[in-house]
Amino acid sequence: MCGIVGAIAGRDVVPVLIEGLKRLEYRGYDSAGIAVVEGDTVRRVRRTGRVSEMEVAAQAEGLAASLGIGHTRWATHGGVTESNAHPHVSQGVALVHNGIIENHEAQRERLTALGYAFESQTDTEVIAHLIHHHLDGGLDLLQAVQAATRELEGAYALAVVSRDAPDRMVCARMGCPLLIGLGDGENFIASDVSAIIQATRRVIFLEEGDTAELTHAGVAVYDETGAPVARGEHLSDVSLASLELGPYRHFMQKEIHEQPRAIGDTLEAIIDAAGFEPGLFGADAAEVFDGVRGVQILACGTSYYAGLVAQYWIEAIAGVPCRVEIASEYRYRKVVPDPGHLIVTISQSGETLDTMEALKYAKSLGHTRTLSICNVPESAIPRASRLVFYTRAGAEIGVASTKAFTTQLVGLFALAATLAKLGGHLPAEREAEYIDSLRHLPGSIQHALNLEPQIASWAERFSPRHHALFLGRGVHYPIALEGALKLKEISYIHAEAYPAGELKHGPLALVDADMPVVVIAPKDELLEKVKSNMQEVRARGGELFVFTDADSNFGASEGVHVIRAPRHVGVLSPIVHTIPVQLLAYHTALARGTDVDKPRNLAKSVTVE
Ligand code: F6R
Repeated sequence: MCGIVGAIAGRDVVPVLIEGLKRLEYRGYDSAGIAVVEGDTVRRVRRTGRVSEMEVAAQAEGLAASLGIGHTRWATHGGVTESNAHPHVSQGVALVHNGIIENHEAQRERLTALGYAFESQTDTEVIAHLIHHHLDGGLDLLQAVQAATRELEGAYALAVVSRDAPDRMVCARMGCPLLIGLGDGENFIASDVSAIIQATRRVIFLEEGDTAELTHAGVAVYDETGAPVARGEHLSDVSLASLELGPYRHFMQKEIHEQPRAIGDTLEAIIDAAGFEPGLFGADAAEVFDGVRGVQILACGTSYYAGLVAQYWIEAIAGVPCRVEIASEYRYRKVVPDPGHLIVTISQSGETLDTMEALKYAKSLGHTRTLSICNVPESAIPRASRLVFYTRAGAEIGVASTKAFTTQLVGLFALAATLAKLGGHLPAEREAEYIDSLRHLPGSIQHALNLEPQIASWAERFSPRHHALFLGRGVHYPIALEGALKLKEISYIHAEAYPAGELKHGPLALVDADMPVVVIAPKDELLEKVKSNMQEVRARGGELFVFTDADSNFGASEGVHVIRAPRHVGVLSPIVHTIPVQLLAYHTALARGTDVDKPRNLAKSVTVE
């Protein structure tokens, strides 16, 4: 969703801001703007639509300065208009904001009574006026931001500049990520490291309640009480190559094809440890896992489906009861907490608000055993968790999650096997077998990717359709769910997934010659059952598109199309069977000409409710 970038340097920062905003585009936005301090004036340019349109306007106006801030906005309070776009200005103070201010109405009334006029419908504009009000009262910029943030309720990441302080930028964070980039005689701020990676890799992650003041020469950070504080410096390992398309047409295509590498990197720690050890999840893991009576998984969207796969693994392999719940439901439900349960949050971004709030809620109920499976180092959710397993998928830019999902599955499989080992359910020979299967996983994924031409030819048959049904059973049912989600979000074809055994309890009524039915049917213990379900579809004239593997004993026939992975990979089969459903969605969207990487109405990181 919204993105922030800011820079203070001995050079013109406008190109830095524009490039940073372009790198934030993947998060989803509907307007963009920048403000710079030029001499003793603040100048700004804002536009609805793409950053490139705003860039043209900034060039036309000749914007150039050594201090500035920029923003991409995903509308929440107030429509998609130029006056609602950030930066917001109050008499020489310019500000960009991510998050939501909950007491903005009360602040708006108060500030109106003090004589401030509002130009926008946003919650953000109150912060600009509030800071100006405190500057007017004699505080300096840092003190004014600290005083203003004390009066705000809600979540924010802020960056502020003022014409009266042309040599500094102030920022603040509460509930939304914000980091500082350290350069040589220049410094930066960003909501996401990708925005400043072209300028520096040296970063400081701000903590909740921190404020910071940046000059050319240095950075001073203050904690929530206003006391100076030292925050550690990190070297980001996000690579520029991961943020660029290279030879691919879309980031989604690139990220699908990166999966052998992403999975290989994620496996490295497991293979290096030569076994499933608690240490894979953090230094405290042995203590946290000791006596675990159950697992409660919390996540949203695709990450939730990863949790559903894990439920099958954790119960079958470790013999530990496991529940999975959508984070936005859990956080508002009266739950019966059991401190003996391990709370596992799964999130690619580590920023999803509902998942974060569900974690906070679980902790407020007395849960202390918390683990996060996450792809973005130092993001909010892992930072709020006692244990963490970082997937090493690399930056995921396409809105539709692909490599993050399969690497999450690797981490969750390692969790199931580790709990099994701790519980005495994993004999040494089975552990060796699992490690061996994991070692071969990147190769099996590559074999599945090689099926792309066949899948692309299926996509041509899908693209004119309005609906599709996805079926699976057991551990492959969540892969059917994931296939339906991928198809609907990027091709806009309505798709639903069912456990194949549920078909005759209702959805079979939908099946006719116009309803393509995709079936995930590998050679596992449920294959014969799935075959009966397929016959139910055929008997009603439904056309079947079946993903299976070489070990299954059925072939194509009239109305039954079959694509086969080279071999059945046993317990890791759901990971391999994810590839064809990703490719089917991608090629169908391509045939329909939709915006694959930025599907309508969606954002990459969902940082609002
Ligand atoms: C679908 C998709 C979303 C995310 C969901 C959670 O392709 O990407 O459903 O999975 O918004 O996001 P994270 O994993 O960042 O918490």
